[in-house]
Amino acid sequence: MPQGHSTSMPTQEEIRRKYNQFAPWYDLAEALPELLGVQSLRRTLLQRASGQVLEVAVGTGKNLPYYPTTCQLTAVDVSLAMVARARQQADTLGLHVHLQVMDAAHLGFPDQYFDTVVDTLALCTFPDPVAVLCEMARVCRPAGHILLLEHGRSDRAWLGRWQDRRAERHARHLGCHWNREPLELVRQAGLRLITAARRFFGIFHLLEAAPPATVLADVSEGSAPRGRGQHA
Ligand SMILES: C[S@@+](CC[C@H](N)C(=O)[O-])C[C@H]1O[C@@H](n2cnc3c(N)ncnc32)[C@H](O)[C@@H]1O
Repeated sequence: MPQGHSTSMPTQEEIRRKYNQFAPWYDLAEALPELLGVQSLRRTLLQRASGQVLEVAVGTGKNLPYYPTTCQLTAVDVSLAMVARARQQADTLGLHVHLQVMDAAHLGFPDQYFDTVVDTLALCTFPDPVAVLCEMARVCRPAGHILLLEHGRSDRAWLGRWQDRRAERHARHLGCHWNREPLELVRQAGLRLITAARRFFGIFHLLEAAPPATVLADVSEGSAPRGRGQHA
């Protein structure tokens, strides 16, 4: 079986429902990994954000504290319950964030709209991660940045094999395919990789990329803005 795939892939609707149920517990469940270092990776990545920022799959808004105060923030997630949590987090922080319920694979924003497009810890969850990366590239300005913090299959052989053995069971639980290869997904989406670093036994990736050069060519031929998502 190819890595990162399982015979029982949850559908997008199942993933949305799972996260609607999981929303009240998400922060608690993630507290330990955050303290052990994920928080610090978020801070490192997001200090590179600037200008008009789009975060896809915002979840409960765990990245919101780490954006430079000069950023104008828009964030989307497919789960209404997660967006509601992100709204609470933004209010607690006193941040103005334009939040919407939206599928990251079908972003309702015009081409080349954002200076920075962000995704953290969700490429593992999207049913079609390459389609999401292509959408992120589409809405990113040609000179803009795509910032990713992702986890995937370890580059330590023993650990990678251990992840492979448990991948299907893990994916069934929350739709998280933990043996995907983020660098390979970025390559398949045609993004231009600017910097890449691996952390924690080669499981976590901090990636900075830019849209493919072809995005500019496509847009010059004139493509219409897409429809808008549902406001939270
Ligand atoms: C593991 S959580 C990560 C949340 C957040 N990015 C973080 O770093 O904590 C995955 C998130 O992806 C969202 N999600 C899954 N599929 C999505 C899609 N197609 N479009 C937008 N959000 C999606 C889920 O609702 C959930 O909030």
